[in-house]
Amino acid sequence: MAEYVVEFGKDGRPVQPDGRLDAPAYHRNHQAIRLVLQRFLAGKSGDVVEAGSGTGQHVIDFARHMPEITWWPSDLNEQHLQSIAAWRAHAGLENVRPPLRIDLADSTWCPQMHEGGAPTKLLAMFCANVIHIAPWRVAEGLFAGAGRYLQQDGRLFLYGPFKRGGKHTAVSNEVFDASLRERNGEWGVRDIEALEKLAARAGLALIDITDMPANNLTLVFERSRAA
Ligand SMILES: C[S@@+](CC[C@H](N)C(=O)[O-])C[C@H]1O[C@@H](n2cnc3c(N)ncnc32)[C@H](O)[C@@H]1O
Repeated sequence: MAEYVVEFGKDGRPVQPDGRLDAPAYHRNHQAIRLVLQRFLAGKSGDVVEAGSGTGQHVIDFARHMPEITWWPSDLNEQHLQSIAAWRAHAGLENVRPPLRIDLADSTWCPQMHEGGAPTKLLAMFCANVIHIAPWRVAEGLFAGAGRYLQQDGRLFLYGPFKRGGKHTAVSNEVFDASLRERNGEWGVRDIEALEKLAARAGLALIDITDMPANNLTLVFERSRAA
């Protein structure tokens, strides 16, 4: 069954003295996720915001392998923000910016990329394992922000378990979904078609679905030229 950790640092795993947290799932999934991003972003430059970065490990891996891109991790959990900052300091990569505080549940969220200035139009956004462990308004806020901040042809990469046509793609995801809903009635594995509707409202269209290990998917949405 898919694993989830709502708050890293409170899961009994060791915390480094500098605040770096470790997500077990990262070690299993980071390479497969990065390969999808590289397929779409290789050779491009620009700014990419990650929403709900958690420990911050993914963004460091992306930054190491896609050095021409500037990476902006974010979260709203204080301990996670500290971990992201600690991983950033540990890696010493120039193309990773300090973590932004972004609460996707606030539909008007705005990445504070420049003091007092409007945010740069983004090459892409990335969000892994967030929208099923959060109320639906978090998915709404994510897509609304993608519509506001992605450049034309900018992409939103969404990783996690998803339903297709209202149906689970694996028994393990169905069990996982039930455990999420039991824990919080507002959580649950999301349906791709429902996400496509949110995307359409924000001027985005689903352009790719990649099968990932452990019955996960990476969905790629693109902001259309007309939006
Ligand atoms: C299961 S963790 C996934 C972390 C990371 N993306 C990964 O895949 O390892 C979910 C993350 O979403 C963050 N999160 C939850 N609600 C959020 C919200 N409303 N806005 C932004 N981030 C949120 C949590 O703090 C946590 O870091």
